[in-house]
Amino acid sequence: RWLRAFFSSSDISAKVRLCPIGQNRTLKQSITNVTVAVVMAQILDGKQLASRIREKIKTRVAALPSQPGLAVLLVGDDPASHLYVSLKKQACEEAGIFFELNLCPSDTPEQDLIKNIEALNARGDINGILVQLPLPGQNADRVIAAIDPLKDVDGFHPENLQRLRHGEPCIASAVALGVMKLIDEAKARGSACIVSSPLFAAPLVLLLKERGVQTTVVQAEVANLADRTREADILIVAEGIPGLIRGDMVKPGATVIDVGTTRTDEGLKGDVDFDSVEPLAGAITPVPGGVGPMTVAMLLVNILKAFDLQSR
Ligand code: GUN
Repeated sequence: RWLRAFFSSSDISAKVRLCPIGQNRTLKQSITNVTVAVVMAQILDGKQLASRIREKIKTRVAALPSQPGLAVLLVGDDPASHLYVSLKKQACEEAGIFFELNLCPSDTPEQDLIKNIEALNARGDINGILVQLPLPGQNADRVIAAIDPLKDVDGFHPENLQRLRHGEPCIASAVALGVMKLIDEAKARGSACIVSSPLFAAPLVLLLKERGVQTTVVQAEVANLADRTREADILIVAEGIPGLIRGDMVKPGATVIDVGTTRTDEGLKGDVDFDSVEPLAGAITPVPGGVGPMTVAMLLVNILKAFDLQSR
């Protein structure tokens, strides 16, 4: 009991199997039978998993009667947004999906963006439309609402969330689908806690519920954040606050999914302090190389889903 208490209360996570001193054993023999296995966290390699999914998509695209197409609306000149869009372009082109970039100046009026989207809605060669976020000033909700829900490959349109809520055919959030694939990879069970805005959490809560996972949603500002996160077998964090979650805020053995990506002087940083959480977690996503590549892979999955829904 002492050893178990020691290992679960210290900053290392361990499985402890104790062999009692047997009848014909000396203390020395028994001590050699004490096995202390330090359990390393499973690193959930999103890059590798995404690469396997992208290969499968490529095969499926090659078998389609016509080429699917994605149009991306990129507004302004934010370097991070340009980088993310270039990764999406590369992923589409490698999978054999047509990619079109619609570049707009940062002061483009909202109505012009909406007109642009309406034109894309009407095109038969474009199956998916994505507005890269954040927008430099225009109202993202109103712009996204202009996308035909059948072409909303990010899964951000309110109608898609509504359909997901009712278990109807829909395009679910690519980020949420990516997170779910990583949770499946970890074979995680139990209860979940999402630290994020309610809007981000909404599709995830529904997808987790489909798997029978009870989920609570909290925001970073909540007074007892550590108490709430420590209860969770599956901890998902998407606040954009580097290092928000430290080792003492995580249940030993938990699966920790880090959606946060913030550019800092030291490079891309997640919301999870990897160094203090990794020794304790059962499974953990790195940043970069975790959720990011999975979101791109699930975007491709959603383009094929959109193609399929539009062919019905
Ligand atoms: N900006 C950061 N992440 C995303 C995403 O998943 N989709 C879009 N459209 N913009 C983003």
